[in-house]
Amino acid sequence: MSNTHSPQKYLVCVAWPYASGDRHLGHVAGAYLPPDIYARYQRLRGRDVRMVSGSDTHGTPVTVAAAREGVSNIEIFTRYHTRFVHSFRDLGLSFDLFTHTDTQNHWDVTHEFFLNHLANGYLYRATQAQPFCLVDQRFLADRYIEGTCPTCGYTDARGDQCDNCGNLFDAVELIDPRCKICGQSQIEVRETEHFFFDLGKASPHLAAWLNDGHKGHWRQAVFNYARQQAESGELRGRAITRDIDWGISIPVAGFEDKVIYVWYDAVQGYLSATREVCALQGDPEAWKAWWFDPAVKSLYFIGKDNIPFHAIQWPAFLIADGRGLNLPYDVPANEYLNIEDKKISTSRRWSIDLPDFLSRYDPDPLRYALTINAPETRDVNFTWDEFLRRNNDELVATWGNLVNRVLGFAYKRFDAQIPTPGPFDPVDQALLAESAAAFERVGEEIEAVRLKIALEKAFALAHSTNRYLNDKAPWAQIKSDPAAAATTIYVALQVIDHLKVLLNPFLPFTTQQLHHFLGYDGDIFGRLTTEEVPDARGVHLVLRYDGSDLAAHWAPATLPPGQALRPPQALYKKLDDSIVEQERARLQEHLSLSAAAA
Ligand code: MF3
Ligand code: ZN
Repeated sequence: MSNTHSPQKYLVCVAWPYASGDRHLGHVAGAYLPPDIYARYQRLRGRDVRMVSGSDTHGTPVTVAAAREGVSNIEIFTRYHTRFVHSFRDLGLSFDLFTHTDTQNHWDVTHEFFLNHLANGYLYRATQAQPFCLVDQRFLADRYIEGTCPTCGYTDARGDQCDNCGNLFDAVELIDPRCKICGQSQIEVRETEHFFFDLGKASPHLAAWLNDGHKGHWRQAVFNYARQQAESGELRGRAITRDIDWGISIPVAGFEDKVIYVWYDAVQGYLSATREVCALQGDPEAWKAWWFDPAVKSLYFIGKDNIPFHAIQWPAFLIADGRGLNLPYDVPANEYLNIEDKKISTSRRWSIDLPDFLSRYDPDPLRYALTINAPETRDVNFTWDEFLRRNNDELVATWGNLVNRVLGFAYKRFDAQIPTPGPFDPVDQALLAESAAAFERVGEEIEAVRLKIALEKAFALAHSTNRYLNDKAPWAQIKSDPAAAATTIYVALQVIDHLKVLLNPFLPFTTQQLHHFLGYDGDIFGRLTTEEVPDARGVHLVLRYDGSDLAAHWAPATLPPGQALRPPQALYKKLDDSIVEQERARLQEHLSLSAAAA
C-alpha cells in the first residue's frame, strides 16, 4: 500500500446490551454476529476498522433486575458485563473495544453532549405528566410501569417502548397501567420537571440528510421508517431525564435528584468508546479522525427494536451537537429470530442464552447456522432440528468433509506436503478461475451487508470443489497416473486455501485451525484479550481485539507447492440426533419453571 493513500476507515458500531441479563441467540443473530463478520472482512481487505460497543449499565432494566434479586445495581451490571465479555470472546466477536457506560470517559462525553445541546437550543425544561404510584410513593419511569400499548394493543408494553410494535410513547399513554413494583394500579398522574430534547427542531435537518441521495444502500424498512418519521411533522420533544437515582448526573444545578435517561447516554457510547479505544491505543486525539472526517463510514448494527434510536434520535443528537460529527453511513438493522416457532421471551424463559449455548456447542457451527438463516429481511425461525441439519448436512458434509478428505489424502499420499502440480487442464483452470473470482463475488455481498448470500456464495465454491473431486477421482488417479493425482490434489488444496480466507469472517476459529494444518504460521484470527482498565470511576473490565498483523489477505494467494502440512484433524463434529429432543425438553422445562414462578 502506498504512503500517500491511507486505507478507508470503517467505524463498526454495535448495539450496547443492557447489563441486566444474558444475550440470547436473537440478539446474536440480530446485532452481534453481523458486525463481527463485516469487521473481519474489512480487516482482511486491509481497511482500517474500529468495532466498538459496551454494556449499557444505566436505566431501569438494571434497577428492576437488581430489585428483583435484592442486590445492588453495581452487582447486577458487573455480573452481566463480565458474562458479555466472556461469551463475546468465546464467540470470537472481534471488538476493538467492548467497554461499559459507567466510566469517567463516558460520563464526560455525555456531559459534553448535554451542554452542547443546551447551548444550541435543543434542550428545554418543561413539566411533564408522569405516572406516580400511590402505594410505593414514587414516579414510575420506563420499566417500572407496564400496560397495554396505545398503538398495537400488546398487553405487556413498557413505559417507554412497546416490545411488540417498537413504538415509543409517553408512559401516561399506556392503557390499563400497572406498577411493576407492587403490581397494583393505584397510579395517579403527577407533574414533574424534566429536560426535553427537541426532536422537532432537528427534523428538517434529519429529512435533508435522509434525502441527500446517498441512502440507496440502506435497507428499505429502515429507510422508510426514518424518512416517514422525519417528514411526518410529528416529531416533538422527548424527556431525556428521569426521576430515578441510577444513571449519569445532569450537569445543571437544581437537578441533583434526577438522572439522564439511559437512551440519551447509551447511543453516545459510540463516541465515548471510540475515544477510549484511541486512548488505549496510545493516541487520545485520534478519535477526531473517526468522527470528523466525512470519508469515514460508520455502520450501526442493531435489532429492529432499536431503529428509532439509531435512525432518528442518535442522528438528531449528532446534528444538535453542532461540532459537525459524522452521521451514520448505514444502519443495517435486522429482524427477529424466533425459537421453535415462538417469539423469544426472557420473562417466560423461552430463550437460548449465549453462555448456555457455548457451554455445550462450539462457536463456529452457531455462527454458520445464524448466518445462513440470517434475519436480514424477515423474521426467521431457529429450531434445534434445523441447527442439527445445518451442522451435519452442510457444515460437516459440504465443507468439513472436503477439507478432511483432501488434507488427509495429501498428508498420507504426498508425504505430508503440498504436492507440485503438473500443467492445468481446462477443468482445473475452470475451478481455479471460479475460486479467484469468489473474492469479488463474496466481497461485494459483505460490503452490502448481505451476509447470508455472501456465505451461500462461498459455500457454492465448496460445492464446486466437491464436484470437481468426484469427477477427477484422485483416489483412482493415484494408481493410474500419480502426476495427475498430484495436480488434482494441488488444485483442491489451492481452493481450500482460498476458502479459508473467504470463510474466515464467518468461521474464524476453524479457518485458523485450517491455516495451521495447511502448514502456515501466523494468525488469521487475531487476538482477543480481556483487560482491567482503571479510571476516575474505578476499574472496568474490557474486551480488546488486535488484528493488526493478520497472516492473510482478501485476495487469491498462490499456495506454495512443497510446503509441509501439519497432521490434520476434523474441523467440525457431527451432532447426534438425540440433541434435538434433549434441547427441546430443556426449553420446555424453562418455560414451565417460569410459569410456576409467576
Ligand atoms: N441497551 C439497549 C438494548 O439492549 C440497546 C442500546 S443500543 C445503544 O436494547 F447504542 F443505544 F446503546
Ligand atoms: Zn405496541
